[in-house]
Amino acid sequence: MSPLPDTPARTLTWGAAAMKPVVAAVERVAATDATVLLTGESGVGKTALARALHRAGARRDRPFVVINCGALSPSLLEAELFGYEAGAFTGADARRCGRLEAAAGGTVLLDEVGELPLATQTRFLRVLQARTLRRVGGIDEVPLDVRFIAATHRDLPGLVEQGRFRADLYHRLAVFPIHLPPLRARRADIAPLAQRLLGDIAARLGCPGLDLDPEAARWLVGCDWPGNVRALINALERAAIMTDGETIGVDALIGPRRSRGGRPRSMAEVERDAIEHALAYTDGHRRQAAEILGIGLRTLYDKLKRYDLGG
Ligand SMILES: Nc1ncnc2c1ncn2[C@@H]1O[C@H](COP(=O)(O)OP(=O)(O)OP(=O)(O)O)[C@@H](O)[C@H]1O
Ligand SMILES: [Mg+2]
Repeated sequence: MSPLPDTPARTLTWGAAAMKPVVAAVERVAATDATVLLTGESGVGKTALARALHRAGARRDRPFVVINCGALSPSLLEAELFGYEAGAFTGADARRCGRLEAAAGGTVLLDEVGELPLATQTRFLRVLQARTLRRVGGIDEVPLDVRFIAATHRDLPGLVEQGRFRADLYHRLAVFPIHLPPLRARRADIAPLAQRLLGDIAARLGCPGLDLDPEAARWLVGCDWPGNVRALINALERAAIMTDGETIGVDALIGPRRSRGGRPRSMAEVERDAIEHALAYTDGHRRQAAEILGIGLRTLYDKLKRYDLGG
C-alpha cells in the first residue's frame, strides 16, 4: 500500500469555520467502509471529495471508478454497469465484466445519483443490500467487494416524495451523509483557495507565478459564487489569460472598464452603464452586482427604477 495517505483536508482547501464539522466527519469516515452520501450545490467539490475519501482510505491502491448516472443512456446502463454473459443479447459473444466488477477492492462513486432511472435504482438496491451482482443474462450472483460513495446536487428526500427516487435506496445510500456548504457560506476559504488555484493555473499556463492585487482579492471574497469553486476556477483562469504581468487586477476579473473617447458622458449615463455591466456580469444577480458596484442593495433597486432597468 502507498505510504502516508493524503488526508482529504490536506488535499482540499477547507479552513473556514463552517467547514470544521465537515472536516471532522470526513476524517472519521475516510478510514471506514461506510457508504457516504455527498450533497451540496453544483461546483462545491463533491466529486473532488469522493476522490479524496478514496485516496485516504484502505482501498487507495485499488480502483476508483466514477459512474456518472446522468450521462449513461438507460439502454446501455445495465450492461455497462453490471456486465453481461455470452449470449445475453445480439452481439454479446463473450462474457464481459461491468464497471462495478472492474472496481473490485476499490471505491465506486455513483455521481449525480439523483439522475438514476427507477429501473436501475432497483438493481442498485439489490447490489447494496446483498453486495453481489448478477450480470445481464446471467444467473449467478457474483460477490462484489467495493465501497460506495454517492453524490448529488439534488434534494433526494424531495425526489423520494415525488416518487422519482426509491426511499429504500435513499436510506441505503444515506448511511453517512455529508453536506458541503456553498462557497458564500465559507468566505474565509475564498482567498486561500484562490491562491492555491492560481498556483495550479500558473503551472498550467506555464507562467512563473500569479498573484491578486488587494482590490481583486476583495472583489473575489465579496462575490456570491453561485457556481462555487468551479466558477471561481473559471474566473481566475479567464483573468490569468487576460493579464500580462504576474498580478491580476480587478479589471481582469470583471472585464475592462469602458474606454474613453467621443463625447464625454453625464454621470447618469456612466452610472446606468456601470449598472448594466454589473448585472450582465453577474447574470442578473442583484446582490452580487450591488457588491461589485460598491452600493447597497436598496440603492441599486432605486437606481434600477430610476433608469428603467427592470427594478
Ligand atoms: N476545497 C477545494 N480545494 C481545492 N479544489 C477544490 C475544492 N473544492 C472543489 N475544488 C475543485 O473545484 C472543481 C469543482 O469541484 P467538483 O467537480 O468536485 O464539484 P461538484 O460538487 O462535484 O459539482 P457538480 O455537482 O457540478 O458535479 C474541481 O476542479 C475541484 O477539484
Ligand atoms: Mg461532481
